Amino acid sequence: MTVGKVQDRDFIQVRASGIHGTGVFAKRPIPKGTRVIEYAGRRLPKAQLLEAAERGERKLTYVLNLDALTAIDGAEEGNDARFINHSCEPNCEVYIFDNTPYIYAMEAIPEGTELTFDYKLQSAGSMRISLALSRELFPCNCGASHCRGTLVAPPKKRAKSARPVPTSASLPQDLGGSHPR
Ligand SMILES: C[S@@+](CC[C@H](N)C(=O)[O-])C[C@H]1O[C@@H](n2cnc3c(N)ncnc32)[C@H](O)[C@@H]1O
Ligand SMILES: [Zn+2]
Repeated sequence: MTVGKVQDRDFIQVRASGIHGTGVFAKRPIPKGTRVIEYAGRRLPKAQLLEAAERGERKLTYVLNLDALTAIDGAEEGNDARFINHSCEPNCEVYIFDNTPYIYAMEAIPEGTELTFDYKLQSAGSMRISLALSRELFPCNCGASHCRGTLVAPPKKRAKSARPVPTSASLPQDLGGSHPR
């Protein structure tokens, strides 16, 4: 007896992107709400990753925040999800289930379309950098009509009584929420 033919349910292909370098594309139509792929990689303490990056021993290009203490580095033991580029008007989102991040289609994605999610880069500390500096250091090439010009997260809306936040000092060195850079 043999096991029957297994259907190819893979939705994605990796190839050159007009946004940046290598990207991930829909190789067939992806229905809204589909769990497309896990964001795989080595789990490491964030503090350790940031220290290694500061010493120039490690890059944070494929790092995704899992929680306050832990990040996933897709550069080690990672999969195709690490090639998903950022867009300010994304068609995918990262959700964490059972402590594991997955890329989900937020909308129906036609065949051939590049998959993207919003990286929303954040500073490791509470300080923020100005929009101008964000655009200079982390420019966005997503091409969306409402592109904010940077991979850095937009400022959170603050209550009127809140004090203004500093606009310089620390650079984004963290991957706030769950987003690589
Ligand atoms: C997780 S990697 C994505 C895969 C990447 N395209 C590659 O070839 O390795 C993240 C890096 O891709 C680049 N990138 C992703 N989205 C971008 C965008 N919208 N505009 C400019 N660069 C982007 C940035 O250099 C970022 O640090
Ligand atoms: Zn953009």
